[in-house]
Amino acid sequence: MKRFVFFLGIIGSVWACSSASAGEPEVDGHQVYKSYCISCHGANGKMGVSGAFDLTASTLSLDERVLVITNGRNAMASFKTLLPPKKIRAVAEYTMQLKAEGTQ
Ligand code: HEC
Repeated sequence: MKRFVFFLGIIGSVWACSSASAGEPEVDGHQVYKSYCISCHGANGKMGVSGAFDLTASTLSLDERVLVITNGRNAMASFKTLLPPKKIRAVAEYTMQLKAEGTQ
């Protein structure tokens, strides 16, 4: 019986993940940013530690940002092994918002 319940739990979580990636990301990109990106890019995206780009000035599209965050580029770390694609997308979306705020 315990095994069965455990198995249901697995199915439930797999289902939850796949359905979430199809719809709106419910991952908070701001949280991901605070945990993984602030150390180099700063809270407002402009800090630029060790040559990090000013994210408010970035002209990259959302997809290009997802690629840079996933695979890294020069001194920018790769987050492929740290973050699932859903979180990478959420944080990339958050950096687009930094741009919007920076130009106001
Ligand atoms: C170890 C420091 C460091 C961390 C941590 C870091 N970055 Fe970067 N980031 C960089 C550097 C350095 C560059 C410039 C790369 C280059 O010279 O090509 C960069 C570039 C970028 C770019 C490309 C900007 C452009 O216009 O080309 C994006 C987008 C980006 N970072 C997002 C993030 C996000 C989101 C996170 C957190 C998940 C993050 N970075 C964490 C150092 C960092």
